[in-house]
Amino acid sequence: MTDLSQPSLPGALPDKRQVAASFSRAAASYDSVADLQRAVGNRLLEQLPNALEPRQWLDLGSGTGCFSRALQHRFPQASGIAVDIAEGMLQYARTLGGAHYHVAGDAERLPLRDAGVELIFTSLAVQWCSDFRAVLAEAHRALRPGGVLAFASLCVGTLHELRASWQAVDGLVHVNRFRQMADYQRLCAESELQVLSLETRPHVLYYPDLRSLTHELKALGAHNLNPGRPAGLTGRARMQGLLLAYEQFRQAQGLPATYQVVYGVLQKPLLEGE
Ligand SMILES: C[S@@+](CC[C@H](N)C(=O)[O-])C[C@H]1O[C@@H](n2cnc3c(N)ncnc32)[C@H](O)[C@@H]1O
Repeated sequence: MTDLSQPSLPGALPDKRQVAASFSRAAASYDSVADLQRAVGNRLLEQLPNALEPRQWLDLGSGTGCFSRALQHRFPQASGIAVDIAEGMLQYARTLGGAHYHVAGDAERLPLRDAGVELIFTSLAVQWCSDFRAVLAEAHRALRPGGVLAFASLCVGTLHELRASWQAVDGLVHVNRFRQMADYQRLCAESELQVLSLETRPHVLYYPDLRSLTHELKALGAHNLNPGRPAGLTGRARMQGLLLAYEQFRQAQGLPATYQVVYGVLQKPLLEGE
């Protein structure tokens, strides 16, 4: 398994321009296949501290804006900013409302001034960032004292069935790489934010066949973009090998695809006297 524990590891995650282009292309198909994303984002919303009343929130890696609209509903008095690296996603989200501002930007270098927002909500986006330490530092910079960062991300164990099946066929990288949970724990503990909660939960989706799973990953823009992925067409024999290998995982409900989801809620400490 690739080590993503280093703060920055060039080449370990796909190029950001590729990530942006892939999600931009997926904007129109995304919502029809985003059941997992909705379940995870809703669970993250439930974890927000009850007392939180932001005047300004940020939906980071906002995608089609599903959770910008949920945040607007939950905090009707507040003003919202949606930031995403994919222009296509921002364009799509703009037409649907939710956030007041839609800004292109990178979670590792937020296009925001210091101490401007009370909530940063980011669901299933920061697994695309190789420098999670920078994400935490930027959140700390952009939050007001007392403000909250709520994130959901993916860790090792995600799509392990697909990874193992490809491994059995050709041993190449066909599945996006993920950070270890221990690295999330360490980087959060080392950040200047206070950890209110940090846990991992498996979500398992079931598919009638492998084509449905790979089709969904593509429609989400989340198919394999790793450097080192095999180029060219997938040969018929290798595809057949993959189908057979994945069948070993079949359960009564269908072919499982496990997502190991990390949920974290962190707070910027109040200044002395506040
Ligand atoms: C799986 S989608 C999730 C969208 C939305 N948060 C949801 O839950 O429906 C991931 C989003 O993160 C964005 N993204 C990926 N890397 C990013 C980065 N470094 N900075 C900001 N956004 C990023 C992608 O463009 C994509 O829109």
